[in-house]
Amino acid sequence: MYRTNTCGELRLAYVGQTVTLAGWVQRSRDLGGMTFIDLRDRYGITQLAFNMETNAPLCEQARKLGREYVIQVTGKVIERSSKNTKIPTGEIEIEVSELNILNEAQTPPFTIEDQSDGGDDLRMRYRYLDIRRNPVRRNLELRHRMAMLVRNYLSAEQFLEIETPMLIKSTPEGARDFVVPSRMNPGEFYALPQSPQQYKQLLMVAGMDRYFQIVRCFRDEDLRADRQPEFTQIDCEMSFVEQEDVLQMFEGLVKHLFKEVKGIDFNDASAYSKFKIHNSQFGNQFPRMTWHDAMRLYGSDKPDVRFGMQFVEVNDVVKGHGFGLFDSAELVVGINAEGCAEYTRKQLDALTDFVKRPQVGAGGMVYIKYNADGTFKSSVDKFYTPEVLKTIADKFNAKPGDLMLLLCGPAMKTRVQLCALRLEVASQLGLRNPDVYAPLWVVDFPLLEWDDETQRYYAMHHPFTAPKSEDEPLLDDQSRWGDIRANAYDMVINGVEVGGGSIRIHDRILQNKMFHTLGFTDESAAAQFGFLMDAFTYGAPPHAGLAFGFDRLCSLFGGADSIRDFIAFPKNNSGRDVMSGSPAPIAQEQLDELQICLKK
Ligand code: AMO
Repeated sequence: MYRTNTCGELRLAYVGQTVTLAGWVQRSRDLGGMTFIDLRDRYGITQLAFNMETNAPLCEQARKLGREYVIQVTGKVIERSSKNTKIPTGEIEIEVSELNILNEAQTPPFTIEDQSDGGDDLRMRYRYLDIRRNPVRRNLELRHRMAMLVRNYLSAEQFLEIETPMLIKSTPEGARDFVVPSRMNPGEFYALPQSPQQYKQLLMVAGMDRYFQIVRCFRDEDLRADRQPEFTQIDCEMSFVEQEDVLQMFEGLVKHLFKEVKGIDFNDASAYSKFKIHNSQFGNQFPRMTWHDAMRLYGSDKPDVRFGMQFVEVNDVVKGHGFGLFDSAELVVGINAEGCAEYTRKQLDALTDFVKRPQVGAGGMVYIKYNADGTFKSSVDKFYTPEVLKTIADKFNAKPGDLMLLLCGPAMKTRVQLCALRLEVASQLGLRNPDVYAPLWVVDFPLLEWDDETQRYYAMHHPFTAPKSEDEPLLDDQSRWGDIRANAYDMVINGVEVGGGSIRIHDRILQNKMFHTLGFTDESAAAQFGFLMDAFTYGAPPHAGLAFGFDRLCSLFGGADSIRDFIAFPKNNSGRDVMSGSPAPIAQEQLDELQICLKK
């Protein structure tokens, strides 16, 4: 037997017992007469004591142990004379009588401590050492716990976990596919799934009624803190349901996670008191906001509603005063930063620079200070009298001491820019508290999205999403396509899109119409989606579903911004695994076998 106990287990109640432990040497302290070693495993740290007087050879041996050596010790549990209250095992230590070195270790390239001295790159290169650190280990433990909670919850709700293939057919919609060449079918390729969308719909045709899968998905897209090329979804689908059934079911799942993991009971209306858009209208439900309102009030389809600062449109009061930029703009819109009238020139310049960065792209920013003494100071004093500025301030519901920040330009573009400014100001004011959780549903997304570059409409969610039945006739009027609303919904928490889904089209005629709207011919639609269309002719039940980004949920519950911290072996921002060195060239023989010829 390698060990009788773990390094996190022993307490005063074990005093007097002889135990065997195994683990890694965290650190050693040589105090002359005594040598102490902290022995670590996944469960904790236990102090080992070696006494020079009673066992000199063993003590000598212990002194030579390096960091991260793997050892096994046997000894008696004794009460410590000086106790460490910071760790659960801090009242005892092991008086070691046997020491066995199981493996030596090179000195690690960074310290295996909560606050490591290793930079990001180095830690990713030696991720197996990084995972030995408490914060990373805890994140993976949280991930496991959440996966178990999800499985148990959905299983109790009659969902079956069913695996779907990883080697599938490439589809043109959505992000880029990762493709895999087929040796047995030269010149032909599989794609790795961006999601199991079509298969889960087929499982509904197959009568499985409720499906889920914690499943890896692959998307060849630009990476960000909340995006990885391979990530995990909690993918779900249900038959014979309406939108309300789906929202209730998965709101229930997320409430369950909040209760179990964070101790927050969102079935109790008071849990919503800390965030700004909830009111009695929603009772103990997650609030719902239409996509249109989300864009109008927050400039984003994933609004962060932990704090207020909703957009205020002021076209009617700012136009016609000779300020050309405002007069000619489609939209003049702003936010009120409460209590910020004291912002210095330097702070305002920094905010102007922020909105002018290429990532935001605004031409400039106008500010109006409503000073504590009731006077106004603005960057457009030349054009607006104090009376007009007061009218503007009233639109914002501003009080003396507040600061209004305004942008102008084409409506949608300006809203998106103001969204970036709102989040920046909120971050500066400490309003984006990771311990406050503000979930909501964004509903009624547009069905179609116009792309200027390719001059055509794309499905905003995916081509299987059903339009709202009252908007269905608009499919026959091309000039109204942009107005069609979808039966699609996203769950958003703290400005993060954690999940999304839709009611599916289960009617073949409507699905065909949708494909035509998206520019497919009968032939190209049949070539791409023929199997799904065929399946729909054999009795497809009405169905709907959604998928959560599991990595995103974990990072949100773990209070971190980057999903990488919750993935055991993530890719870096260039999509590389710096530890294994992938992607990498393959041998000429492999290329030949696949009949792939690389461009010189
Ligand atoms: P969607 O494309 O919205 O929907 O994806 C669902 C959720 O997956 C997460 N997500 C990601 N997480 C990490 N890295 C990525 N690159 C990434 N891309 C997406 C997000 C997102 O909300 N089949 C549909 C779902 C459905 O209709 O049922 C789908 O995949 O949290």
